[in-house]
Amino acid sequence: MTTATSLLLFGATGDLSRRMLIPSLFGLHNDGLLHPDLRIIGTARSQLTVAAFRAMALAALEAAVEAERRPADSVAAFLDRLAYVPLDATLADGFAALAAEVGDPDRLAIFLSTAPSLFGPTIAGLAGAGLASSGARLALEKPLGHDLASSRAINDAVAAAYPESQIFRIDHYLGKETVQNLLALRFGNVLFEPLWNATGISSVQISVGETVGLEGRADYYDGMGALRDMVQNHMLQLLALVAMEPPARIDPAAVRDEKVKVLRSLRPITGRQVETSTVRGQYSTGAIAGQPVPGYLDELGRASDTETFVAIKAHVDNWRWKGVPFYLRTGKRMPERVSEIIVQFRAVPHSMFGDAALAANKLIISIQPDENVGLTMMAKVPGLDQGGLKLRAVPLDIGLPGAFADVRRRIAYERLLLDLVEGRQTLFVRRDEVEAQWTWIDEIRAGWTTAGTTVKPYAAGNWGPAAAIALTERDGVSWHD
Ligand code: BG6
Repeated sequence: MTTATSLLLFGATGDLSRRMLIPSLFGLHNDGLLHPDLRIIGTARSQLTVAAFRAMALAALEAAVEAERRPADSVAAFLDRLAYVPLDATLADGFAALAAEVGDPDRLAIFLSTAPSLFGPTIAGLAGAGLASSGARLALEKPLGHDLASSRAINDAVAAAYPESQIFRIDHYLGKETVQNLLALRFGNVLFEPLWNATGISSVQISVGETVGLEGRADYYDGMGALRDMVQNHMLQLLALVAMEPPARIDPAAVRDEKVKVLRSLRPITGRQVETSTVRGQYSTGAIAGQPVPGYLDELGRASDTETFVAIKAHVDNWRWKGVPFYLRTGKRMPERVSEIIVQFRAVPHSMFGDAALAANKLIISIQPDENVGLTMMAKVPGLDQGGLKLRAVPLDIGLPGAFADVRRRIAYERLLLDLVEGRQTLFVRRDEVEAQWTWIDEIRAGWTTAGTTVKPYAAGNWGPAAAIALTERDGVSWHD
């Protein structure tokens, strides 16, 4: 695929654009990674002039990029790349002005970060203005629907104008360095793969904890809840990368074929099974790092049964993972911001050390805030051992920032925007994956309705309600805290 020379940003004045997209594009520009001819055309409903849009972009850079990483000449050259066309996407007429600004529609990348209600008219407008040619690429940012039916409707509307090979569905977790590192770890080392199955592994945990609450997104979040906001996308993608078979190549078809097989092998959790396999929670007043924080309902200002925490015991029903539970949990107002994957290996089949306690090996893949891979290993405690050998689990840690101290860490959107502009689809989610994800999630939600589950309160600053602890403890497993 050829590199795009125009990048069209829908929702260019929005929060994602100012916090992530514009700073990421500047990072790429500043490192000389953007094609010299690439023009970035912002569009949104606001009637801004190009100068006003550039001023907004400058303010976004000043807020997000440290002063020493934005030399004035580089910032000026970046702002020169920016253009702006105001557009009401519900009116077809405006798209001609956009097309005139774009230039060659075969070297076009489009980034759609708009309200879901604007997807249909925007796609139709783009197609009508000749911006859906065979060289155009379209990136779609969440939320792409709120269930399988609405996600299909969006995908159908998009497919009417763009074939799948030109669609780049974003799950920003796939742009995170440590997430990609999962592939390196599993398939670049001989060590793990022979044990990476039900014979060697007894359970897997995936935790994504956030300290933030509603962050001013009440309308969106209250309509979604933790299951749809975090599990449907990010956590299931992490699970798929942990559980998939080795792809033959790192190309879009090979990697995504393997992920979708896992997603389709997720055991449905239906009807009253939700009572034993899932836990829903909602934070109440509490404290994080010593600071008092209000409860969800206080933040929201009305009654709600939306879950801000969910824990799930999942299974991948295939040969490799027979009987291995995958425990997932995510929540707002947790004690700390942490995303990690814990792979619990099985115990040695026989201990020659008599009564000495042996802890089974554990692989800890920390995604954020630290990028770290750690393996707990048994080692002998130094000493003369008159009472018999003593062993203790010691960590074998690879701090990735230390191991790669000379390489700048990039935020996920830098990677994803560069891949979009240059046309690499591997880190974007294919339609069949999204639909398999929604299918599994919708069954859980239907189960919640059938079982009449209500959210269990947890005080902000805790790892969810007590029932989440019971979910694993019943199996003799503890969450890694
Ligand atoms: C988004 C969710 O997809 O991911 C947010 O909508 C959440 O609710 C965010 O806060 C978490 O992303 P990250 O990169 O901060 O872990």
